Amino acid sequence: MKDLIKVGVLGSGTMGSGIAQVAAQAGHQVALVDINAEALEKAKNSLYKIMMRLVEKGTWSEQFANEAFGRIDFSVDMNDFAGCEMIIEAIVENIEVKHAVFSKMESIVGENCILASNTSSLSIASIGSVLKNPNRIIGVHFFNPAPLMPLVEIIPAVQTSDEVTQVTRELVDSWKKVTVLAKDTPGFIVNRVARPFYGEALRIYEEGMADFATIDWAMTELGGFRMGPFTLMDYIGNDVNYTVTETVFAAFYYDPRYKPSFTQKRHSEAGYLGRKSGRGYYNYAEGVEMPEPIKDIATGEQIKERILVMLMNEAIDALFLNIASKEDIDLAMTKGVNYPKGLLQWANEMGLGNVLAKLENLFQEYGEDRYRPSPLLRRMVKSGSTF
Ligand code: NAI
Repeated sequence: MKDLIKVGVLGSGTMGSGIAQVAAQAGHQVALVDINAEALEKAKNSLYKIMMRLVEKGTWSEQFANEAFGRIDFSVDMNDFAGCEMIIEAIVENIEVKHAVFSKMESIVGENCILASNTSSLSIASIGSVLKNPNRIIGVHFFNPAPLMPLVEIIPAVQTSDEVTQVTRELVDSWKKVTVLAKDTPGFIVNRVARPFYGEALRIYEEGMADFATIDWAMTELGGFRMGPFTLMDYIGNDVNYTVTETVFAAFYYDPRYKPSFTQKRHSEAGYLGRKSGRGYYNYAEGVEMPEPIKDIATGEQIKERILVMLMNEAIDALFLNIASKEDIDLAMTKGVNYPKGLLQWANEMGLGNVLAKLENLFQEYGEDRYRPSPLLRRMVKSGSTF
């Protein structure tokens, strides 16, 4: 692997500025390009502030911060990507705009430059289709905030060469990130496997089984998750989370398993976006008390198990369809969204027969395809094996 190559980042928003920081602190020269001079100025100021805060906290020396900051060139001109050996695109999530910038980038860089996208929901194959050399396209999916979240999903498209995949993974590994390899399918690993954490919680609420606070309590206190689903959706933003759900649902040809929720849609439509708007499932206005959960252990356990077996089924199905290896599926959920345990390992501990029985009960009770157990789970239980 080539050390300390010049890295380009297109888009200086939430993700692009974080990715530029990751590359600069790893010692790379970075060209951070944005079409919007104001956005670029904002990124420059906020990166400087973030780095100085790291100095104040004693995490970085002043020299290290100044050098890292000094390695980032802020520019509105894509021609400054000349000489880059890898560019990571993190601009607006729109396929036409991405097509235009990838064509342009290819005309600026040398023939060995890897062209990567940080897209959350678009197909890497489609983004790469506009390139003269599509072997150099790859997905490199960071999590927000990029400097803090350890996981990066690496997504080769059907066109990507093995060498590009290998070099990209080695490079991102050298940035002290945990990389996992995912197939170019909707939601990759994390945004696919995590759907029931939100969807099943919303469904439980809609059925009137429990309120937001009680479901959150069950998942944190009994499930060991760092945040309950409603607190997390309020943190992500209901508009953002709803859009991901809708996109994944459509991309899976409307598989009922990924059906979005009216509750979330209405909250989003009402402007109850979560923390950023001061109100979501909870009211964050000053002086407003948070609702108390009803701490009934039996109900709590039921809620936790229902969401958990749905998550496990999703992880098992991702393995069944070769979206990623079993190690990578578990790593993705612990390092990308802080799950207390990998879902496959957790399913082993719970007993696969037990997981299957719970899913079958749900499937029988509701008669909905949403609860269908993965064929791999059935197969494993039949043969008495574990993950
Ligand atoms: P953002 O809206 O914060 O930033 C996008 C930036 O791209 C803006 O500064 C904008 O001026 C710039 N831009 C737009 N069109 C451009 C063009 N043609 N040329 C150059 N710059 C252009 O967006 P965010 O949230 O950083 O997302 C960027 C990408 O990362 C999207 O593809 C998104 O799906 C993906 N992503 C987002 C995550 C998140 O939590 N926000 C997590 C992981 C991936």
